[in-house]
Amino acid sequence: MLLQLSSWQEAEAFLERSRTIVIPIGSNEQHGPTGLLGTDWLCPEIIAHEAQKTGDMLVGPTFNVGMAQHHLGFPGTISLRPSTFIAAIGDWVRSLSLHGFEKIYFLNGHGGNVSSIEAAFSELYAEASFAHRPAGFALKLRNWWDLSGVVKLAYRQFPSGHGSHATPSEIAVTQWAYPDAIKSANYAPQIASSGPIREALDFRARHPDGRMGSDPGLATPEKGGELVALAVQGLIAEVAAFGAEAPPA
Ligand code: NI
Repeated sequence: MLLQLSSWQEAEAFLERSRTIVIPIGSNEQHGPTGLLGTDWLCPEIIAHEAQKTGDMLVGPTFNVGMAQHHLGFPGTISLRPSTFIAAIGDWVRSLSLHGFEKIYFLNGHGGNVSSIEAAFSELYAEASFAHRPAGFALKLRNWWDLSGVVKLAYRQFPSGHGSHATPSEIAVTQWAYPDAIKSANYAPQIASSGPIREALDFRARHPDGRMGSDPGLATPEKGGELVALAVQGLIAEVAAFGAEAPPA
């Protein structure tokens, strides 16, 4: 069930049977010469939308802009600074909590978001701790590639040239879901170099076409489909376990 395609009465009825919601979260940022700008929010959205087809899982709207300041040297990138991102995550959680959601699961698609999402969780828990009251909700963050077995499959599919940005695995997932948007380019070098992540001008100077350590030319829609199928299994199992987690006695 997708929250954005439901009425408020349907959301209310869902809350009668479950207090768990999945929020895909990512970033809109450059992904090299052939990767879609939406790659990092499309991947978790694709996986969550597939997963909700198979059972009674509620998926909320995708939080599709994240912490991407280092990619701002490339057109099409949209970034929130960490403080804005943390504040916005806080209000999403407060809104959902207000209506009774108690288990809020963020399925993330961008490594650069992790520290800010974790800081947002700490800010939210601190509100309860300083007020000496229960938070009323539990929060969980999972990167889609960290779902059971997914990284292992990706390294089996792409033993070299996986890299860390504009990776063939994330590009394969978008190719599977959006075959009409597949692009090609001559990569030079075939496998991009790696390096530190600092500010936008430094990033573009080190990584002129936007890739980091990757050869996106290895991606195929078929490999993307395998990754999605495995990630969907992992997500369903994890969300069920999170939803069933009992509060402390
Ligand atoms: Ni990415």
